[in-house]
Amino acid sequence: MSDNKTLSTIFNRTSYRGSFKPDPIPREDLTAILKAGVAAPSGCNRQTASFMAVDDPALILVFTQEIVGVDGHYYHVQDYSAAMENMLLAIKSMGYESCWFEGNLRKYAKEISDFFHIPDPLKLVCLLPVGTPADAVPQRKETDAFKKRAWFNGFGI
Ligand SMILES: Cc1cc2nc3c(=O)[nH]c(=O)nc-3n(C[C@H](O)[C@H](O)[C@H](O)COP(=O)(O)O)c2cc1C
Repeated sequence: MSDNKTLSTIFNRTSYRGSFKPDPIPREDLTAILKAGVAAPSGCNRQTASFMAVDDPALILVFTQEIVGVDGHYYHVQDYSAAMENMLLAIKSMGYESCWFEGNLRKYAKEISDFFHIPDPLKLVCLLPVGTPADAVPQRKETDAFKKRAWFNGFGI
């Protein structure tokens, strides 16, 4: 397991909220991150999440659309969440850092959407900064979360 690159990216990812070096992010790297978002699964394959990269500074804006699935359920929140995790892992695997910004974005979402002329019914829900960290990157701490939250063959086992 230790040489599995996907698993080590998952286990090393943490939310980075520090400063970034001013180095520009190559467009091919941002394109690869966007492709990771587009490649995420989506409920009833409705593909409700969409993405915009902003080159300066490097940011990815994530949009959702409330489209009902063939089964009458809505999966747009799950859809953009799957895309977010794909992109967070892509960002980490490429040597950059990021953080899922959603709560902090809410009060600026309309202003940003208006600035970029985002049409209805797309709703800006999340933002991912992308950059080379200038500060120390938080390390994932060993916790007893696995014992508390994951079991085999029965609750609490
Ligand atoms: C739905 C969602 C919304 C989040 N919104 C914010 C946010 O607005 N600002 C922020 O600093 N972190 C935000 N985070 C990051 C969480 O705070 C972070 O993932 C959590 O504390 C666990 O830390 P880790 O990512 O380092 O494992 C959000 C995460 C999720 C999944």
